[in-house]
Amino acid sequence: MLFSELLVALASLSLLLKACPLVDDLALYDVVNTPGVAADLSHISSVAKITGYLPKDDGLKLALTGADVVVIPAGIPRKPGMTRDDLFKVNAGIVKGLVENIAEFAPKAFILVISNPVNSTVPIAAEVLKAAGVFDPKRLFGVTTLDVVRAETFTQEFSGVKNASDATVPVIGGHSGETIVPLFSKVSPNFQIPADRYDALVNRVQFGGDEVVKAKDGAGSATLSMAFAGFRFAEAVIKASKGEKGIVEPTFVYLPGVAGGDEIAKATGLDFFSTPVELGPNGAEKAINILDGITEQEKKLLEACVKGLQGNIEKGVEFAKNSP
Ligand code: LMR
Repeated sequence: MLFSELLVALASLSLLLKACPLVDDLALYDVVNTPGVAADLSHISSVAKITGYLPKDDGLKLALTGADVVVIPAGIPRKPGMTRDDLFKVNAGIVKGLVENIAEFAPKAFILVISNPVNSTVPIAAEVLKAAGVFDPKRLFGVTTLDVVRAETFTQEFSGVKNASDATVPVIGGHSGETIVPLFSKVSPNFQIPADRYDALVNRVQFGGDEVVKAKDGAGSATLSMAFAGFRFAEAVIKASKGEKGIVEPTFVYLPGVAGGDEIAKATGLDFFSTPVELGPNGAEKAINILDGITEQEKKLLEACVKGLQGNIEKGVEFAKNSP
């Protein structure tokens, strides 16, 4: 497991993973803090054995060797007024370096990328893995679960479910502003969003991250809700890898490499896209196309998404190909 420089992000996601009975070995890696966080969490009476690594003494190599699942929330967070794309300059290089190490020391691991801008860092990861000859598109995921979690939460008053996660509110596209497309016409249970609330709800799902960045006022972005979402997705991947059937979560994948993805690539003109994906023992078993029958309003949202996403993807691919 690889974690960000932020202690809160490191600690909160680690806590959820340490408490999860499906995790038997948890390796934390960061440039600081991991020995302390690991020592603290090691007193929790759960299954996972936990170790904290730093860059010295081959820490990254040791953390990665033997890993089945690698979660990457590394990098710097936004400050008010910044877009996720503004993080590209710093985070692109961090993700590239980490994935080069994964390609060497854990080439078969499921890789879950949380680091922003996800719309570009996942294409970077794909290019690095391709160059190393170990790219398996079924094992690389951009974590867009927080958009889904937000959509479930913000529509709870209409879905009527007690636990917001019991509703299914698909969110497709990417993980940044207008590239985030909630499909309220495809919800389950089948509930309606009042017309006079539609625009505001779409905007809140698309810019929910900004809400947190603004409230934290310079102290970072969502770490706790992101830990919840990152854990939810990691747990889904682990459960599916152990044979549990019927697990579907939206995630940002390389469409041409996943069954069913070609149809979505054809409809959108994009290689990378977040769509509900059926997970299985080998990772992304099937990309599910839910674009048929979307409303006129959703078609407009999708148009804006495709435009933005195309540029984000190209930027990531260019970077991976041209930076040393
Ligand atoms: C989020 O959606 O909250 C995260 O991607 C962090 C951010 O920068 O908004």
